[in-house]
Formats: sequence, structure tokens, C-alpha cells
Amino acid sequence: MSAVGDTRKVNTSFDHHSSDIAVDPYPHYKSMRDQCPIVWSDAYQGFWVFLGYQAVWNASRDDATFLSSPPGVGIPDYPIRPQIPLETDAPMTQKLRAILHHHFSPAAVQRLEPTIRELANELVDAFVAKGECDFIVDFAQPLPARTVLRMLGYEEHRWAEFVDLIHTVVHGVTSDPDGAFTAAFALYEEIKGNIAKRKEEGLGDDLVSVLLTATLDGEPLDEEIAIDYILLLLFGGLDTTTSALGNALVRIQAHPEIRDQLLADASLLDDGIEEFLRLDSPVQALARTLAHDTEMCGQHLKQGDRALLVWAAADRDPEQFPEPDELRLDRTGNRHVAFGVGLHRCLGSNLGRTMFRIMLETVLERLPDYELTDDPAQYRFADASSVYGLHHLPARFSPQAPRHTASL
Ligand code: HEM
Repeated sequence: MSAVGDTRKVNTSFDHHSSDIAVDPYPHYKSMRDQCPIVWSDAYQGFWVFLGYQAVWNASRDDATFLSSPPGVGIPDYPIRPQIPLETDAPMTQKLRAILHHHFSPAAVQRLEPTIRELANELVDAFVAKGECDFIVDFAQPLPARTVLRMLGYEEHRWAEFVDLIHTVVHGVTSDPDGAFTAAFALYEEIKGNIAKRKEEGLGDDLVSVLLTATLDGEPLDEEIAIDYILLLLFGGLDTTTSALGNALVRIQAHPEIRDQLLADASLLDDGIEEFLRLDSPVQALARTLAHDTEMCGQHLKQGDRALLVWAAADRDPEQFPEPDELRLDRTGNRHVAFGVGLHRCLGSNLGRTMFRIMLETVLERLPDYELTDDPAQYRFADASSVYGLHHLPARFSPQAPRHTASL
């Protein structure tokens, strides 16, 4: 793969959107990372692929060199307006994050825990007597979607419509750019319509109201910025945590000893959820743009070059994680980068973790003998470039009586 006479040490044609890698991208990351922690890809007019843990870590921390502002975090560019605060740079990023920061703090998320747990049990009640379900559609999609829609003050019973639109944008960006654009447009219209309604009916204490009354540099926050922020909360909230659960349930099915350990001692999930996130990172990669020339790992990066930071590859780097492909519930010092690192580290990480943990605990507690009925590989999205997840996951288990902890 090395190109003689090329200043780039390792040339590839790696395409993160390709359906060829969507089921299992990890061997592809490994074969590139074994050659160099940073390689070049000729796809999409060319970009650097950051695969080594240290390289990804250093680039993410150096936000003065690795910019997130447009052309932004997608390669190729997403067919939508800049995502807020994801596609901004310092000091704007910190100012925008500060608006919602305390709504996603550990204390704020802890206050939500009882309602998230109640929702998890309500959802299981709806199918537990049948002895079968689709873990994604019946459980892992509605729980994060309804939780985030509720936080935003949206009609949570419409969660499936939002999930469909988000999937069309996130997973169709290269395979169906027109569809992705149309879905993004529908989401903007939805958000605008909701804002207009909110203004008419009065604001509440939800996140949309917080954004509509926020200030930036002493001025009211521009409404377009609020719209773009809401859209990112939908993107961040509705797809990622769903994928975390789906991936974990596949892992547990493949490793009966892990299931036995978790059933014997649920406290293993304290570290265990971090290991699931490390091993099958729901957000595989996001991009940056070089602010100036620099050299890393012997590669000469030029101003304006695009760089794809592959969190998922960093999280399997043997230099950082011994036996990187093994799920080890007792792994210590697990500084995974599934939520990113530095300035743009996931604003919703406390919420994502909590929803993921509650879903996993609920499955292990109420459906401990679940078995996936089909090969999950067929249900992976054909484009895993930004979110590595499943759209269906049928399973069966011993039927139980519902608990009816609350009404749906
Ligand atoms: C397991 C679940 C989740 C994973 C794996 C995940 C992953 C990530 C990653 C890797 C980034 C960093 C982007 C970058 O550095 O360019 C990020 C940013 C972000 N995430 Fe999450 N996320 C999750 C859940 C959530 C949830 C539940 C929300 C909110 C409802 C959320 C909202 C955000 C926002 C707003 C940002 C942008 C932060 C910024 O640019 O400053 N995420 N997420």
C-alpha cells in the first residue's frame, strides 16, 4: 500500500462509508494501524485516517490545530447546516456548551434516573409476556428517544418518526444524499414549527425553552443557532445509546461467560459498561480540518487537510489496551475515547451512560435468558461511518408476567 515517492508514508483507499466494512470495521482498522497510527486515504478527495490511540488523543486535545468548524466533522460534508456546538471552535464551543452544561451534569442525570428506570420497565412490560421482542425497535430505540424528546419538551409518542428521520440523515449521507437532505429539511421544519408553537403557548422548563431564553455574549441566542443545537441533541440522543445497547447484547450472546458473570454480580457493570463502549464504540469516527501544517507520527499534514479521528480504532489500539479485542469486565485504567476527548467531548455522556446502564440492567434482570434468534450481522446499518449499530435485533426469552409498574 505504501506509495514510492509519495511524502505520505502509507496510502490506502479506505472508505469509512463502505458497506464492505460496515459489519466489522475492526480488522480494517487493525491492518492500517499496524502500518502506521496515521495513514492517508484517497477516498473523498483525500483525508488522513487517525487510528492510533495516542494520535487520536493528541489531535482531539489540540483543538487549535484540529478544527471542528466547517467543513466540519463529516467526510464528505454533511448536507446540513453546521451542527451546534459540534462544528464550532474555541472559544465559541465553550460558550455554547455552557448554555446546557448543567442540564447534562451528573447531578441532573441522577435526578432523571427514576423516570428512565420506570420507562425501561414499562417498555419491557409491553412485550415480556410474549416471550419475544425486537430489542432495538421495542426497547433500545424508544427509551433514549422518549427520554430526550421529553427533555426537549417534544411529544414523545412521536419518537418513531424522529428516529426514522435521524436514521435517514445519519446513515444515508453518501448512499442516499437526496433522502438525507430531505429528512434533514423535515427535521428543521419540525423544530421551527415546535418553536413557533412554544412561543405562542408559553415556554416551560424544557431544553428548548432554555435555548430560546439563552444569551450569548450578552445578546439573545440567535434562533437559527438554537435550531441547530436542538437538531444535534436529537442526533446525539436518538441513535448512539440505542447502538450501545444493541452492540452489548450481541457481545453478551457471543460470550456466555460474560453473561454468567454479570448475572452473578450486577456491580460488574460499573466498569463493564465502559468496556462495552470501548469494544464496540457506537460513534466510530468524526473529522477535523488542519488549521496549519504540522507533523505527527512522521506524516506531514498540511493546512486545510481533512483528518478522520477514528475513536473506535483508537479504542482497540494494543499499545493502550492489552488484548484489545477481548471484553474484560475487570479491565483497569480504561481511558476509552468512545465519548471523544477534549473540547468537544460528548455533552450527553452522563445521560448516555445512564440510559445504557439502565437498559442493560433491565434486560439482565428481567430477560436474563434472552437469545438472539437471527444472525445480527444482517441487521447492521450498511453505513457504519459515524454510528455503528443495528436497526433490528429479534430475540426470544422465557415469558414472564408484566409488572405494570406504571401505565404507558
Ligand atoms: C452512548 C452514547 C453516546 C456516545 C457514544 C456519544 C459519542 C459522542 C462523541 C464521540 C462526541 C464527540 C464529538 C467530537 O469530538 O467531534 C459526542 C459529542 C456530543 N454528544 Fe454524544 N454520544 C452519546 C450520547 C449522547 C447523548 C445522549 C446526547 C444528548 C442528548 C449527546 C449529545 C452530544 C453533543 C451535544 C455533542 C457535541 C459536544 C460538543 O461539540 O461540544 N450524546 N458524542
